[in-house]
Amino acid sequence: MSERPIGIFDSGVGGLSILKAVQKQLPNENLLYFADSKYAPYGNLDQTLLKQRCLFIADFFAKNNAKAMVIACNTATALMAEWLRAEYDIPIIAIEPAIKPAAALTNTGKIGVFATEHTLNSERYLLLKQRFAKDITVYESACHGFVEQVEQGALDAPETLALVGRYLNPMLENGIDTLVLGCTHYPFLSPSITTVAGDAPLTIVDNAEAVSIQLNKVIAEKQLLNLASGDNSSSNNSGFYNSGDTVTSSAVMSKLLGKPLNFLHHNNSAQKPYAIDAPDREN
Ligand code: DGL
Repeated sequence: MSERPIGIFDSGVGGLSILKAVQKQLPNENLLYFADSKYAPYGNLDQTLLKQRCLFIADFFAKNNAKAMVIACNTATALMAEWLRAEYDIPIIAIEPAIKPAAALTNTGKIGVFATEHTLNSERYLLLKQRFAKDITVYESACHGFVEQVEQGALDAPETLALVGRYLNPMLENGIDTLVLGCTHYPFLSPSITTVAGDAPLTIVDNAEAVSIQLNKVIAEKQLLNLASGDNSSSNNSGFYNSGDTVTSSAVMSKLLGKPLNFLHHNNSAQKPYAIDAPDREN
């Protein structure tokens, strides 16, 4: 039972920032990672299609006997977390922008949030701000283009640095000292963000570690921890799927993880139209 895998998914390769934290926190666990790169970015994707994709992936994990699922995507969490929790019996761990730690860390009382359009427009995000950021000023940017750069592995290309500057500089001019990376792709741009910030004091925060701690807590409470010996932190026992182009995606995913990975196969069925309400969703 406990050796069953944990499914982790994102619109693409960004959720690997969460997978890394999970491997560190739970090195014993078998992981399945699904990158939906064919449909990235989710950040402004039609919401019906987004729902279909989340269901497809959740069903894929269910078929693979997953014991828990991590929505390693702020956008899918913002729009789909409660719905998925109602549909599936397994524990579902979700992610939200790290507003709470940022509000505690800021000295200037001004923070920046980089996230996708869907996340920033969601009710869930508004409630999060009302709860934790009432007394501070929050500057927000839907960073169009960031996800595409990360999907290509162009983490520090000149165009990427220019794009980062376009979104970061106005926030720095407004006096932010803390920046929330509210999309799981963005931590891979942290070195470029630091380069662009230069001497400006800037603390960058995200919730990857918090998600891995929460996952640990939940599966421990439910007695789902893998007690078999072994260390999966090398990615040897993790399986990686991508709905996009196999060659590009396997190369980019290895680059982001900094090691070769067990790329299982290109899931062709992920490309077929997928009816949400069909009794058997495998169409
Ligand atoms: N990485 C995702 C997130 O955390 C989705 C980004 C996108 O595909 O737009 O929001």
